[in-house]
Amino acid sequence: MSFFSDLKTLYHVAVKPLRGSGQAARLESFYAGQAEHFDDFRGRLLHGRREMFSSMEVPPGGVWADLGGGTGWNLEQIGPRIGELSKVYLVDLSPSMLTVARQRIAARGWTNVETVEADITTFRPPEGRADVVTFSYSLTMVPDWFTAVENAWAVLQPGGVIGTVDFYVSRKHPAAGLAQHRFFGRCFWPAFFSLNDVFLSPDHLPYLRRRFTPVLCREARGRVPYLPLLRVPYYFFIGRKRTEDDASCCVSGNHKLSS
Ligand SMILES: C[S@@+](CC[C@H](N)C(=O)[O-])C[C@H]1O[C@@H](n2cnc3c(N)ncnc32)[C@H](O)[C@@H]1O
Repeated sequence: MSFFSDLKTLYHVAVKPLRGSGQAARLESFYAGQAEHFDDFRGRLLHGRREMFSSMEVPPGGVWADLGGGTGWNLEQIGPRIGELSKVYLVDLSPSMLTVARQRIAARGWTNVETVEADITTFRPPEGRADVVTFSYSLTMVPDWFTAVENAWAVLQPGGVIGTVDFYVSRKHPAAGLAQHRFFGRCFWPAFFSLNDVFLSPDHLPYLRRRFTPVLCREARGRVPYLPLLRVPYYFFIGRKRTEDDASCCVSGNHKLSS
């Protein structure tokens, strides 16, 4: 971490206007000048990633698609178990982020990890299906986030696992067991992050809990670099795609639901 690299990142986050028509162009305009320092600054902002990735099952011989995988920092959190997977696809629309990811893959000697420049609302692995899909702070960047979730559902094998970690705000009247955020937070955080085309939603978590059988769900708050008094809300959710044998889509509680 250096103050100079933080300054560069802050310039791209807070000053430089986003340009380009279409999401791919806007993402690249946002990340081109900061991909190199992304892991440093975002390591202090994107909370819950280590916890979620290290909590996920690694199916031996399975296929894992990390959607909006960026620089590949999260794959480090899987640890040596990554070698047990037959294939990992790190999918992203930003060439600059994928360049950093490819350097990481080469440095770690991960022969089973491949980067793919593609849109996560439409990406399909060549195998047809995946056993695990993850979204780490990428759903909030997709305007039609529900198409990304629907695509993940279609890609997953029955019984396959989805993991999502992201910023969010609660609904004004959340379901029983879920956190309720105050008026200020529900207004402030979406406006603050929308400056970077990051769209916090009260609907991600309810939709994920409805679409998948919850395995682990956590809501918390984390620090924001250079804003010492503020704590931004984030969640992580691990869920399973139902098999035909699964009964209902009942959703309950906020913590560990089954293993
Ligand atoms: C905040 S970064 C998070 C990167 C990484 N998942 C992490 O946790 O470090 C979000 C990433 O999602 C990617 N992204 C956003 N929308 C996308 C889309 N529609 N298709 C592919 N990638 C997308 C961005 O390019 C960016 O690399």
